[in-house]
Amino acid sequence: MDKSITISTLLSNLSDLPPMPDVAQKVLAMIRNPKTNMAEIGQILSLDQSLAMLVLRWANSAYYGLRHPVVTVNQAVIVLGQQAVRNVILASTVASMMDRPLAGYGLEKGDLWQHSLAVAGAAREIAKNGGAELAEEAYTAGLLADIGKLAFETVLRDINPVSPEWQGKAFSHLEEEYFGIDHAALGAELARRWNLPARLQDAIANHHEPSESKEGRSLCYAVHLADYTAMIMGIGIGIDGLQYHLDPAAVEYYHFNDQLLDQLTEEIPDFIMESNNMIRALPMENA
Ligand SMILES: [Fe+2]
Repeated sequence: MDKSITISTLLSNLSDLPPMPDVAQKVLAMIRNPKTNMAEIGQILSLDQSLAMLVLRWANSAYYGLRHPVVTVNQAVIVLGQQAVRNVILASTVASMMDRPLAGYGLEKGDLWQHSLAVAGAAREIAKNGGAELAEEAYTAGLLADIGKLAFETVLRDINPVSPEWQGKAFSHLEEEYFGIDHAALGAELARRWNLPARLQDAIANHHEPSESKEGRSLCYAVHLADYTAMIMGIGIGIDGLQYHLDPAAVEYYHFNDQLLDQLTEEIPDFIMESNNMIRALPMENA
């Protein structure tokens, strides 16, 4: 195993993935600009039929609970707000990246994608009492928390994680042992290169150890608890199994008890199905 593999080399493993469509890139850049208004975002989104349809479906989904469906892209972006529009775009962009099998982790085709949708939906639900903006941020951070695994996948194939040496260890230890960086830190680096906000980079970097967060524990705790819940449910856990340490500070912060765990366990299959159906139903180039 080559321990001299650098972050750049690992990130270049992602270079064969489809690029973000032009319109998606433009909208993400507009969302970064505080002077942009929603009408401008609606105008640009209308140029891409697939994204426009997706934004409409997303706004009319059960989560937003509209009494009357919205029918125009401009109405949809106003219902959603900038953060949720970013979620739609990122989810459609990473869908095909995350749907692939990751043999190095023992993940079948679709496992990482389902895991990511579960964590995204559960994190949004956990964070929603903290306000709509935090809830949407939690969705994005949950969706991208494990994206760094894509870069490690090929290099981890040479390791035999079921050998006695690795029994009982988490993949993040394996990654760090061999490459000096784990998938959480690598995912955060990818988010930085995509110009996503520092809070999101931080939540991705610290989703296993949320008390290490420097930018916002409320966000990081929500993603951590959601990730834990998905693990407990056995969604996309791969061959390292349930190697997960629950942070007691996160439990206390969100009053994470059996009742909340049961509620999320019941809701997560719907979160997965709903997001997946919206994205997969479209004739998107990269979905
Ligand atoms: Fe992770």
